[in-house]
Amino acid sequence: MPVRKPKVVVTRKLPDPVETRMCELFETELNLDDTPMDAAALSAAAARADVLVSTITDRIDAKVIAAAGERLKLIANFGAGVDHIDVSAATERGVTVTNTPGVLTDDTADLTMGLIMAVSRRLVEGAAVIHAGDFHGWSPTWMLGRRIGGKRLGIIGMGRIGQALARRARAFGLSIHYHNRKPVSPRIAEELEATYWESLDQMLARMDFVSVNCPHTPGTYHLLSARRLKLLRPHAILVNTARGEIIDEAALAAMLEAGELAGAGLDVFEHEPNVNPKLLKLPNVVLMPHMSSATIEGRIDMGEKVIVNIRTWMDGHKPPDRVIPSML
Ligand code: 8YV
Repeated sequence: MPVRKPKVVVTRKLPDPVETRMCELFETELNLDDTPMDAAALSAAAARADVLVSTITDRIDAKVIAAAGERLKLIANFGAGVDHIDVSAATERGVTVTNTPGVLTDDTADLTMGLIMAVSRRLVEGAAVIHAGDFHGWSPTWMLGRRIGGKRLGIIGMGRIGQALARRARAFGLSIHYHNRKPVSPRIAEELEATYWESLDQMLARMDFVSVNCPHTPGTYHLLSARRLKLLRPHAILVNTARGEIIDEAALAAMLEAGELAGAGLDVFEHEPNVNPKLLKLPNVVLMPHMSSATIEGRIDMGEKVIVNIRTWMDGHKPPDRVIPSML
């Protein structure tokens, strides 16, 4: 007797090769017009699926989990961050949650380095001058930015992405400093010549660049609070490709507006997709619409990870990228 294929509901449009393979392997319900699902649509999806393939735009809270049918057994998230999923509620109900770590590390680290460069060397401002037809010739004192080499980069969160950023940053002549729950292994610390700061406050007060690369958890919400932001040196540049909620965005915008911080590069926002209107007016801020993992290769690899997680679960094994509440 043929084994029943699991019913997989995919909440957003995924790259074609991923959707094609999912349709071969599972009884797959796609979202071809890519309309984000509201709470009611998500609850209905959770009620009819064996597996829900979610993304960051799906708020899978305790209510959605409670609405899930008996058959929902796996939430295979397309993305590394799972702060939009109530993992504890899912786990209590016997629903496994998986994510896609590793395959978006390099793309995210690339874009983080890009933001460091874009803000310090005024790339967006310079490009805007050209597009506005305002380039009337070179001048020795015009459009001056700040050199990157020889400065200190403080990385908050030294996991995969933090380490990949550190490798890139070293090639640009930055010295590496980091704050993490615990120090990295001596082998990695030596490779990166990285200095560990147990005190985030002390690190912030000494850096030229600060990059946020930790996950958003209850413990990291507003980790960069108004008080901590004030510790940054006025010439420092802050970049965030992790989650907006880690920074008090209103406090950051106020400081940038007041000239208390040299600049910021933000790929994520506290109230995404809304952006604090103050930030939109500032020339020393580079804003990106949550693009750090947005490469075609990265998104296909993420889909591949989702498929592997579903397949191993189907075969009765523990999926490789399980997220458990104690990790958060
Ligand atoms: C993803 C991200 O594309 O993986 C993450 O955590 O932030 C993004 O780069 C997004 O979350 C997809 O769900």
